[in-house]
Formats: sequence, structure tokens, C-alpha cells
Amino acid sequence: MRHAVLAGLGAAVPEQRITNAMLAERMDTSDEWIRSRTGIAERRRVGPEESTSDLAVAAGRRALESAGGEPVDAVVVATTTPDHTCPATAPVVASRLGLGTVPAFDVAAVCSGFVYGLFTAAGLIAQGGAGRVLVIGAEAFSTIINPDDRTTAPIFGDGAGAVVLRAGDETEPGALLEFALGSDGSLADLIIVPAGGARQRSSGKPAAPDDHYFQMQGKTVFMHAVLRMEESSREVLRRAGWDTSSVDLLVGHQANIRILHAVADRLDIPAERAFVNLGHYGNTSAASIPLALDEAAATGALKAGDRVLLTAFGGGVTWGSVALRWPDLAAA
Ligand code: UT7
Repeated sequence: MRHAVLAGLGAAVPEQRITNAMLAERMDTSDEWIRSRTGIAERRRVGPEESTSDLAVAAGRRALESAGGEPVDAVVVATTTPDHTCPATAPVVASRLGLGTVPAFDVAAVCSGFVYGLFTAAGLIAQGGAGRVLVIGAEAFSTIINPDDRTTAPIFGDGAGAVVLRAGDETEPGALLEFALGSDGSLADLIIVPAGGARQRSSGKPAAPDDHYFQMQGKTVFMHAVLRMEESSREVLRRAGWDTSSVDLLVGHQANIRILHAVADRLDIPAERAFVNLGHYGNTSAASIPLALDEAAATGALKAGDRVLLTAFGGGVTWGSVALRWPDLAAA
């Protein structure tokens, strides 16, 4: 069977930095609370004329360059904050990247979106539908956050990360070896934007203003996130035939440093082998794993041949893990 092999990597974040001190001027919170409960010091926010596709195009361009500039056969954009409810963001991104008329579509799995995007692209490659696929996780998450809500505004940030996958062999460095994904829609209400979709519109009732904002039951989400990330990590490692001690780097969805450390602890992976960069980006949802991979590669935390475990949990609820061998990638 043809395997998907990681061939390029890139990331992009907006200029504007929002520090904890800036948030504390606006709402009843403190730098101390945010750092100690989440590990976050600052996050990025899109400017007034900036949107998800702008970040996706910038990250996608870097990933294409790092993969040698060859064209791709499909574009997958994982996002919770598409430019519009209709149409999808991926066709616009493909067009702006000069990729012609390739198939392009969005994947919506909130914070698990990038892992779902990899799964989809790897399937296209395995089935022969595409030889090279650009997978982007991009979010202008601040556009769905209530700027006065202290339970969400400190946590989320904006950004994008992208990879190019190409058809190859499972023995090659960069091969995506195994996946373990899942969902549980009975918990959909834990992470939700209640208004703006068909459910609210078809009710004929006007939405309460707050219902257009992202809402999360943080404590319950925390618990499910740790459980599902541990469980799917164990499953993907079992499928790959790796034990947890052989994992060189755990790159988890950057939701909360306490979640990342709890997952590492349960898997008996030392905390120093759990990559953390949420301090300067916060939780960027579908962008968080590729943003982390980009930084880990740039700073030398990821080396060619490393055994890498990706794991994510998000709204839906959805989760997923991937086992891969890190390739020798040129930085874009
Ligand atoms: O990306 C998808 C996955 N998402 C996640 O995995 C997020 C998971 N959840 C979390 O990361 C955490 O639950 C949060 C960071 C969202 C919240 O941390 P927590 O330790 O679970 O806090 P809490 O919600 O239990 O709140 C503890 C206290 C409460 O006060 P009382 O009721 O104890 O008096 C909150 O009202 O902290 C209060 N609080 C705050 N205080 C200062 C909540 N937010 C803030 C704030 N500043 N920003």
C-alpha cells in the first residue's frame, strides 16, 4: 500500500500579540492565573482585515517551498473558523497559492482538525487519488471568541501550520505509519458555537448575542481530553508496535500545559519529551499541531529518524493520534 510521507512544513501567525497583562486590563483575570492554570503567556490575534485564508495561504506557501515547490494534487484545510459558512476556505486557498483547479475542501473537527486532515490526505494517497496533498490547519479563532469572556479569551489564539504529504513507502523517514481516531457526538454540547448554523436558523428564533460566540465547559473537556488523548495514543502505539518509552517526541494539541503533562505522565513519557509551545500562541485549535511541529523542527527538538507521536482532542467531541518517523526536512 502507498503510504503518505511528510515532505514539507510551514507555519504563519498574525503580527498582533495579546499578552496576559493586556487581557487583565479588560477582564477579571491575572497573568498569574492564566500562566498557572494554562501555561499561556501570550497569543496572536488577526488584524481587522485579516482572516483564516490569509494565514492558511502564508503557511501553505512555506510548506510548498519546503517540499521543493512541486505542485500538489489536492488541498485540505482543517478549520473551525472558515472565512465564510459557505463556501469552504480550501478552494480560495488553493487558488491564491496558484495551484490551479485541484480538488480542495475543508475538514471540520475543531482542535482535532489537523489530525483528521492528515488522515483524509493519507487516505487519498493510499487509494491513489492523489500523489501529493497540501494539508493546512488554520484558525482565526479570535473571531468566534467573546473578548470579554475570561473562560475562553485567555486560552485561544490565531495561527496556521501546513504540511505537504507525498506518496512513498512506509520504511521512509517521514512516513505516517498509523492512525487512531474517534468521536463521540453525545458530548457535542461541551464545545459549541450555539448560533449561526442550521439548527438555530431553522428554529426561527433570533439567537441570544452570546450564542454566536464559542462556549466550552472547560473542566469536563479537560477530563475527556486527557482520557481520549491517552487512549488513542496507546492505540496508535500498539498498532505501530512501539512502546511508550521509544517515543522521542510527543507533539500534543496545545490546549493546556496541564493536559499535555497529564497525558505524558499517564503514558510514562518524561515531560521534557512532550513538546510545548502554547506559551506564546495559546490554543490555536486546528493550527496547533502543525505550528508545534514547525517550531520543534526549527529549534532542533525534532531530528530526522525520531519517533513522533501526535495526539489531539477537540470539539465534536473528536480525537486522534498519529505515529510517524520524522523526515530530514529543509526549513522554509
Ligand atoms: O481545544 C480543545 C480542548 N480544550 C481544552 O482541552 C480545554 C480544557 N480545559 C482547560 O484547559 C481548563 O479547564 C481551563 C483552562 C479552561 C480552566 O481551568 P480550570 O482549572 O479547569 O478552572 P475552572 O474552570 O475550574 O475555574 C476555577 C476558578 C473558578 O472560580 P471558582 O468557581 O473556583 O471561584 C473560575 O471562575 O477560576 C475561575 N476562573 C478564572 N479566574 C481568573 C476561570 N477563568 C478565569 C480567569 N482568570 N481567566
